[in-house]
Amino acid sequence: MKRVLLIIGGGIAAYKSLDLIRRLKERGIAVRCVLTKGGQEFITPLAVGAISNEHVATDLFDLNAEREIGHIRLAREADLVIVAPATADLLARMAQGHANDLATAVLLATRAPVLAAPAMNPAMWTHAATQRNVKQLAADGVEFIGPNAGEMAERGEAGVGRMAEVAEIVPRVEQLLEGEDEARGGFGFINVSEARPPGGRLPLAGRHVLVTSGPTHEPIDPVRYIANRSSGKQGHAIAAAAQKLGARVTLITGPVEIADPEGVAVQHVETAQEMLAAVEAALPADVAVFAAAVADWRVAAAAEGKIKKAKGAPPPALHLAENPDILATVAKLKPRRRPQLVIGFAAETDSVVENAERKRSAKAVDWIVANDVSQGSGVFGGERNTVHLVTAQGVENWPQMSKTEVAAALIGRAARYLAQSVESV
Ligand code: CTP
Repeated sequence: MKRVLLIIGGGIAAYKSLDLIRRLKERGIAVRCVLTKGGQEFITPLAVGAISNEHVATDLFDLNAEREIGHIRLAREADLVIVAPATADLLARMAQGHANDLATAVLLATRAPVLAAPAMNPAMWTHAATQRNVKQLAADGVEFIGPNAGEMAERGEAGVGRMAEVAEIVPRVEQLLEGEDEARGGFGFINVSEARPPGGRLPLAGRHVLVTSGPTHEPIDPVRYIANRSSGKQGHAIAAAAQKLGARVTLITGPVEIADPEGVAVQHVETAQEMLAAVEAALPADVAVFAAAVADWRVAAAAEGKIKKAKGAPPPALHLAENPDILATVAKLKPRRRPQLVIGFAAETDSVVENAERKRSAKAVDWIVANDVSQGSGVFGGERNTVHLVTAQGVENWPQMSKTEVAAALIGRAARYLAQSVESV
């Protein structure tokens, strides 16, 4: 059994660490916790102990604890040390090699890899002193995840400083535990401290991201149509996530019940043909994500007037015509017009990954996000999604996440892809 030591610093994000403990334990990882003095201002040792099911260490000079399990043992018995939230003060003391409390003493004594998830006010994060400490710690081999951009706990404050989401941290932890030390390029969750050039530009600043979302409605007559169960939640969440990372976003959506995401240019369309026209008009784009559940067929000749039911007459036969494949059309554009990264979705009920792989190569798509929409998966209209990311490099099975988390992970991954391709030019 793998064992991590989670050091919980003093920040409002400490509450997320409770969920982190739960998620890690669900994956069969044992979690021991050190709660700093600051951390205890936000959550209690009792709560941490109840969730981790282990003694919570709080003080270097707790003789009882020293007898039971000293800081050297805590340090030695961990396969990975996570610092979450890593406050500005904790990072400063780590960078200096302090050992005047249990957390820093453990960090100095451990030979295990250390993963820090910083969380602080954006001004504190961008301060030269913090950036200097982060650079020093990275040079010392500390891994970082986040911080992310977004709203702060303080009213009206936004910027980079939010602790990475639990759904981002968990796969990174698993990866580090597996010893795949390709963490910098690996699973791909955005590490803002690396992807962001000094000066605080958001990772997708200056980029155009195009997203399709929702179902399409294909008219039978002026009052009836063919549709599907897509809610648009996943596509809209992707548009919002791209906007948060600084992109200019165009969202082209079929009819949905949910609100337009803020700060995003939204075009509402009805049919697949309208969606294709809107997509073509919105190009060029750096990234295009096709999350819409486009109807594969339309009624070849929709009736101009309402089709009437005539007594004794047979029901009308619907003659269907195939709709354009918007994803394939864009993915197969000439390089000059084609977005650098084209991402499709594959909603499957059987052989999810195999079908997605086939779709990826048939449609010339870079990445396919495959999701299981079989009965009971609750994907349609639901809040959660279990997806597999299919790329030319292979298949990644992502843990079950909310649609917002899938969106953040996918867009973070796309931002990294673009950043890397700039570096390699
Ligand atoms: N798609 C599209 N235009 C279409 C059909 C699908 O852009 N006319 C896109 C979807 O937005 C999605 C991907 O293609 O990103 C896969 O759609 P899906 O319905 O899962 O697959 P199909 O290609 O329609 O194949 P099948 O219905 O046989 O599974």
